[in-house]
Amino acid sequence: MTETRRKQGKSVFIRTYGCQMNVYDSERMAGLLKPLGYGLADAPDDADLVILNTCHIREKAAEKVYSELGRLKKMKSEKARAGGDMKIAVAGCVAQAEGPEITARARHVDMVVGPQAYHRLPELLARAARDDGDILETDFAVDEKFDRLAKRSADGPTAFLTIQEGCDKFCTFCVVPYTRGAEVSRGVDAIVAEARALAAQGVREITLLGQNVNAWRSAAPSGESGARWGLGELCRHLAKIDGIERIRFTTSHPRDMDDGLIAALGEETKLMPYLHLPVQAGSDKILKAMNRGHTAAHYIRQIEQIRAARPDIAISGDFIVGFPGETNEDFEGTLALVEEIGYASAYSFKYSRRPGTPGAVMPKQVAEPEKDERLARLQTLLEAQRRDFNQRQIGGVLPVLFEKPGRHEGQLIGRSPYLQSVHVTAPQSMLGSIAPVRIDDTTPNALAGVLVKQGEAAA
Ligand code: SAH
Ligand code: SF4
Ligand code: F3S
Repeated sequence: MTETRRKQGKSVFIRTYGCQMNVYDSERMAGLLKPLGYGLADAPDDADLVILNTCHIREKAAEKVYSELGRLKKMKSEKARAGGDMKIAVAGCVAQAEGPEITARARHVDMVVGPQAYHRLPELLARAARDDGDILETDFAVDEKFDRLAKRSADGPTAFLTIQEGCDKFCTFCVVPYTRGAEVSRGVDAIVAEARALAAQGVREITLLGQNVNAWRSAAPSGESGARWGLGELCRHLAKIDGIERIRFTTSHPRDMDDGLIAALGEETKLMPYLHLPVQAGSDKILKAMNRGHTAAHYIRQIEQIRAARPDIAISGDFIVGFPGETNEDFEGTLALVEEIGYASAYSFKYSRRPGTPGAVMPKQVAEPEKDERLARLQTLLEAQRRDFNQRQIGGVLPVLFEKPGRHEGQLIGRSPYLQSVHVTAPQSMLGSIAPVRIDDTTPNALAGVLVKQGEAAA
């Protein structure tokens, strides 16, 4: 067994927690390790290297890491008893926030590497093979990171592409400015090169990622108009790449939603009509305490402006209930805002006190049962809106990008422009293509439909 594996090279198991940025980073880590002979393992048991790519956003997310490390400890010692070796690395936002604590608490962890330093994994692995001292790498070296990453390989017709990292907004509940560092934008040329490489490998849809993706700014490439570009100009530029049929971006911040981006949403047909624009709360008092830098009315006006530019746009958001000082009346403000906007989808959370953030030490923390009750009420409303939105698609025809085989024989699963999963009976040969589908049913989490035959009216 060991012999055969040695012949086949080593294996790495990567478990990813948290946001899409972590999904992207995990993919890039796998890409860095491939030239060193590491193939991807499906389970940790047998892997030579296990990487936990962690999330620090809420207490629950961070706790998961320590329980997973407990399980890995057993596997590591069993493997050692059998004469093998398993290296364990903790990457991501918990690594950044609690690095020294991890090395102290979990002696079996070989490496701790922050989200802006994982390009150094190969040298850290070499160090780990030589000695067993603590390895802690948590510098903020974003530019160096992107320069050092391996060539990108695609996996399927859709891909994430990080264009911006970090956050300067300092919402008082949030750890991201501390775990990911200051806002940094990648240059146009590097982004275009990565998008082209993906398109050449069959990628049809790219999702541009950033903690505040619409804070992306860069000098215009030579020969192009304008001195400084924002996300709107970048999207229009990427839309010119042959093969790229769809462009999405996430996550946007209301304060960075400029006119150039709104105009691009209205005019660039490759930009998908879906916008994730978190607002968090509907009470101005709470928005101020959260340091969001805008009011509820400002957000509502902005959505009106965006809908005027792109009438079919689907809006998605994030919400926090039970931020310190939130009264029932404040919470009613959140419900009222949700009623006013009408969301196609949304994520909602109970406020979680994060060490080191201003919110954690604010007076008037809200009791857990209160948070539970507010979350349940908010989710009932958001869920009803999502169902309505899905049901409104019935009878219509949507272009669907087929991404993967479905659970049933002869079925494919794709995505609508509004990011809904769509189940369709279609041949495997259609994977990676976009075709019109007449929607005839909805399930709680997806749409179902039939391919529109050529010549049939797509009305
Ligand atoms: N950069 C993005 C999202 C960052 S985190 C933005 O600014 O919108 C994703 C979501 O997690 C946030 O939008 C927020 O709703 C939620 N979140 C962040 N910190 C939280 C905390 N301490 N407790 C509960 N939810 C939190
Ligand atoms: Fe966190 Fe606010 Fe920055 Fe989003 S904008 S990452 S919620 S601090
Ligand atoms: Fe979590 Fe870090 Fe993303 S804290 S949400 S993994 S930026």
